[in-house]
Amino acid sequence: MIKKGIILAGGTGTRLSPLTKAVNKQLLPLYDKPLIFYPLSILMLAGIKNILIIVNDGQEENFSNILGNGKRYGINIKYKIQKKPRGIAEAFILGKNFIKKDSVSLILGDNFFYGQSLTAKLLKSKNQNKGATIFLKSVNNPENFGVAVIKNSKISTIVEKPKKFISKQAITGLYFFDNEVIKIAKKIKPSKRNELEITDILKVYQKNKNLKYEEIGRGAIWSDAGKIEDLTNLSNFVHSIEKVQNIKIACIDEIALNQKWIDKKQLQSNIKYYGNCEYSQYLKNL
Ligand code: DAU
Repeated sequence: MIKKGIILAGGTGTRLSPLTKAVNKQLLPLYDKPLIFYPLSILMLAGIKNILIIVNDGQEENFSNILGNGKRYGINIKYKIQKKPRGIAEAFILGKNFIKKDSVSLILGDNFFYGQSLTAKLLKSKNQNKGATIFLKSVNNPENFGVAVIKNSKISTIVEKPKKFISKQAITGLYFFDNEVIKIAKKIKPSKRNELEITDILKVYQKNKNLKYEEIGRGAIWSDAGKIEDLTNLSNFVHSIEKVQNIKIACIDEIALNQKWIDKKQLQSNIKYYGNCEYSQYLKNL
């Protein structure tokens, strides 16, 4: 059972410059909320209450200003500094004192997931005790992602940003690992782009026949928000869904209330904290 989650929210966000010169990518708006609310909501929907957010040096206060220690949402948030973007796999080295002897989930701070079937898949996968689970999505631009080849319902090959086409199955930025991940992360070497690659960790699990996958079907959406166009597309998407369905996506206060992690009194206090805004109005109507 996975009870701990890491959100990797550092990085330089170069492709989003000048937006990211003063503000970290994960704090940029995705329609009506900071980007980080979306991956955080995924962990919360999976029932994960203990969360470590990895941030750049000097930026902890910015994240803490909005999320604090998580008490407002009935969860526990801790922060850890990543001095340089040495790669996604470094999360497990930086997070080893947080993970301790437990299993852990990792979600990238710029990844957006939305879909009905998603929560069920998450809940199913987080009950695993051994090995790792990844979530795959068929895409038209696999060269931009880690990619998996499936043969006979098993992962046969994993390549980070393949130059030649091998498969359409992109490895999304949500991963469930058993405790072995810390040891494996310590052993892998930096890649050609000088990063500790998450896909190198996955290759070890695959070799040990300990890597499972779930496909995010057509009914669900996944995208990372690496480019300006992604941010705009996703903002428009969230806007449309929220308008048509009259619900909010990734409303962490609502999720906390539904999970019974906070009561109505706490919700009132959250409304006060946000002040007079559309988000508060939504919370008042819950
Ligand atoms: O989005 C899914 C893809 O994410 C996977 O398919 C790839 O296998 C994986 O390598 C990764 O690819 P990117 O090259 O797009 O990752 P990026 O460098 O954009 O980093 C993803 C997020 O993690 C981003 O929000 C910044 C943060 N990050 C990244 C690195 C390398 C850190 O906080 N620290 C880091 O050292």
